Amino acid sequence: MKNIILFGAPGSGKGTQSTALVERYGLRHISTGDILRKEIQAQTELGNKAKELMDKGQLVPDAIIIAMIEELIAKSTEVKGFIFDGFPRTVAQAEALDSMLVRYGQKISSLLELVVPDDVVMQRLLLRKEQEGRSDDNEETITRRLQVYHTQTAPIAAHYAKQNLHHSVDGTGAVEEVTARLFQVVETLA
Ligand code: AP5
Repeated sequence: MKNIILFGAPGSGKGTQSTALVERYGLRHISTGDILRKEIQAQTELGNKAKELMDKGQLVPDAIIIAMIEELIAKSTEVKGFIFDGFPRTVAQAEALDSMLVRYGQKISSLLELVVPDDVVMQRLLLRKEQEGRSDDNEETITRRLQVYHTQTAPIAAHYAKQNLHHSVDGTGAVEEVTARLFQVVETLA
C-alpha cells in the first residue's frame, strides 16, 4: 500500500494535486479541510465549532481531528492506500497517525512537500476568493493561516525527514508541471 502525505502551505496545491494522484494510483483521498467544510454545511455541532476556528485561520483541536481520521481508516477496507491532504497538521497529529497505521500493519510511504513561496500562495488564494468565495480566503485570514503553517505545521517535515520519508517538490509553475514532478517521486516509492 502507498500511504502518502501531501504536504504544504495553504494554497500550495494539495487539493488540486490530490485529484491527479487519486486518478493515477487509485488511492483514497482524505482531506480534513473538505470533511470539516461538509460538517459546516450540515450545521452540525462540530461544524459550528470548526467554522469559528477556520474563519480565524486557527486549527481545530487535535483530539477531534485524530478521532475523525481513526474512524475513516477503520472503515476503509480494501483500499490501495491513502492520500492525506491537510492532515497531519501538528506533530501530535503526525505521531497519532503513525501509531494508527502501525495498528493496521501500515506505515507512511512518503511525505511529499509542495514548496511554494508565501507571496505566490497569497495570490492564488485571493484569486480563489474572487472565483469561489471561500470564507477563509481573505488577506487577514490567509496571513494567519500562513503563520500557523510555519509555526505549528512545518515541523512535521522534520518528523518525517528523520525517517527518510520527506521529499520536496517544486509546487510553482503550471498544474501539469507540478503533477509530473510528483509522479516522478511517487514512481520511486516502494
Ligand atoms: P484546508 O482545507 O486543508 O486548507 P489549506 O491547507 O489552507 O489548503 P487550501 O485548500 O487552501 O489549499 P491547497 O494546498 O489544498 O491548494 P488548492 O489545490 O486548493 O484547511 C482549512 C482549515 O480547516 C484550516 O485552516 C484549519 O482551520 C482546518 N483544518 C483542516 N485540517 C485540519 C487539521 N488536520 N487539523 C486542524 N485543523 C484543520 O489550490 C489553491 C488555489 O490555487 C486553487 O484555486 C487552485 O486552483 C490554485 N492552484 C493550485 N495549483 C496551482 C498552480 N500550480 N498554479 C496556479 N494556481 C494553482
